[in-house]
Amino acid sequence: MCGIVGYIGNRQAAPIILDGLAKLEYRGYDSAGVAVFDGSKIHTEKAAGRLAVLEHLTRGGETMPGFSGIGHTRWATHGAPSDLNAHPHTNKQGTIAVVHNGIIENYIPLKKKLEKKGYEFVSETDTEILAKLLDYYYKGNPLEAVTKVLHRVEGSYALGIMFADFPGELYAARKDSPLIVGRNDDGCFIASDVPAILKYTRTVYYMDNQEVACLKADDLQFYSVDEEELSKESVTIDWDADAAEKAGYEHFMLKEMYEQPKTITDTISPRIHENDIVIEELNMSDEELREIRKIHIVACGSAYHAGVTAKYVIEGLARIPVEVDVASEFRYRNPILEQGAMVIVISQSGETADTLAALRESKARGFKVLGIVNVVGSSIAREADSVMYTWAGPEIAVATTKAYSAQLVAMYMLAMKMAKVRGLVDEKTFGSLLSDLRCLPDQVEMLLAQKEKIQHFANRYVGAKDIFFIGRGVDHAISLEGSLKLKEISYVHSEAYAAGELKHGTISLIEDGTLVVAVSTQEDLFAKTISNIVEVKARGAFVMAVTNEGNKAIEKAADYVVYLPETCNWFTNSLAIIPLQLFAYYVALARGCDVDKPRNLAKSVTVE
Ligand code: G6P
Repeated sequence: MCGIVGYIGNRQAAPIILDGLAKLEYRGYDSAGVAVFDGSKIHTEKAAGRLAVLEHLTRGGETMPGFSGIGHTRWATHGAPSDLNAHPHTNKQGTIAVVHNGIIENYIPLKKKLEKKGYEFVSETDTEILAKLLDYYYKGNPLEAVTKVLHRVEGSYALGIMFADFPGELYAARKDSPLIVGRNDDGCFIASDVPAILKYTRTVYYMDNQEVACLKADDLQFYSVDEEELSKESVTIDWDADAAEKAGYEHFMLKEMYEQPKTITDTISPRIHENDIVIEELNMSDEELREIRKIHIVACGSAYHAGVTAKYVIEGLARIPVEVDVASEFRYRNPILEQGAMVIVISQSGETADTLAALRESKARGFKVLGIVNVVGSSIAREADSVMYTWAGPEIAVATTKAYSAQLVAMYMLAMKMAKVRGLVDEKTFGSLLSDLRCLPDQVEMLLAQKEKIQHFANRYVGAKDIFFIGRGVDHAISLEGSLKLKEISYVHSEAYAAGELKHGTISLIEDGTLVVAVSTQEDLFAKTISNIVEVKARGAFVMAVTNEGNKAIEKAADYVVYLPETCNWFTNSLAIIPLQLFAYYVALARGCDVDKPRNLAKSVTVE
């Protein structure tokens, strides 16, 4: 949700900032802007639309001389995507510039106060308040002005700030929106996320809430909101910059789908020790695992869908009741958390505002929270009591694929571990589950190899208005994710239904030619799902079935069948999702959609 980059050092700032923003465009792409100190004043360029518009306008930053600057790519909250609302925002004289990610919740009273003092506002954004408030407090000491502003504003922010009077300094601050600071021999950087500066440095500092950083070309200081100097340790990023590049694939999404076998391997391998599962990060003894009475899983979007799958798998294998909530509901419904409850939050970015709030709500009530997180050092990773990382590496496409697959296998491992310590699976069954888990990467690879077949099928549905996804049990969970993937990137309306529920109303929407994707991987439910297929076929539907190799009976009912290799009942989602992801991707591609950056979306949603 909005990307920020800043640089101060010995090199021209604007090209570095634009290059960094290009890596953050997944965070928002409504408008972009850059401000640099050009030797005598702050020079700002901004433009509505994709970053490419600004790149064209400034010839990749070449037309903007200067060695310090800040830049922003926006996901609009307050005010439409327009040149005026684009960041950076400045005071009237243009001597203070600000970029902001987050929401200033008390911006209306602050705006009124400032208006009474004669300030005029040109944009509809909450961010402009910050520029004017900084102006109001600035009496020659930038740090003092920044901290005074932080004491006045409520809400979330990651900020990059520059003062024309101090061209050798850049300021950064954060609360509840991510921000990192980087450093190399040439200068210092700020960024919303590591890929933006990875090309330049691997030495980064994760800023904590209500900290301020003052960056100079050859110096870096951190302060508390009360201006006390802080000492911070740097972290060395050990992943490869190539991981955040397209590597010859047409889209990040396609590349990331192809990375799924590796992602699954990377997530499971370090936790398989001989014939056991060891999740050290859990920091829980077998005795503590045995004492869990209930699990609450809280997440948003696809991570929530991984939670829905986990409910079936944990309840099925470990016989622990699981409740799954979307985080925005959990936090406001005064959830009942009773003794013996464990809270698990799932998040790729580790920054999703609602998930973070749910984590805090649970901790405030005295419950331990386990985070299943992909981004190392993210807010959720740092605030959770324990973190089980999904080792998917950087995920750039807005629609998640590989991180979701990693979340699934992380949850399977948890379920298996819990089942084992509770004595619910014997050695033989556990061994067979482990062997099925180990087979998943190769099986995913086999399914990816069928991409042309799926592409061919997808091309027939380019003009579809409505598509329905149905399934029972875990197949319902995967239908939710398959439907979301399609909606997100192709803008084709689709709905996922528990197969047995469709007849209670929604079946009225099925007409001649409507595509129904029926997922049927649970042997004991084959016959039931076939009945549902027959019901929609009788109303004119065209049915694509996703089922297990060998379930030939389905061919009599469905019009088109995709077979999945054999695995146990609990892990079929990891296989079924592959044709569904490919289907969504190819429908979107054929419709000419911007697959990696779908309209209105952002990858990291740091607002409520
Ligand atoms: C956004 C993304 C979704 C993602 C959801 C949760 O809406 O577009 O793809 O599933 O946020 O994100 P998280 O980072 O918490 O997994």
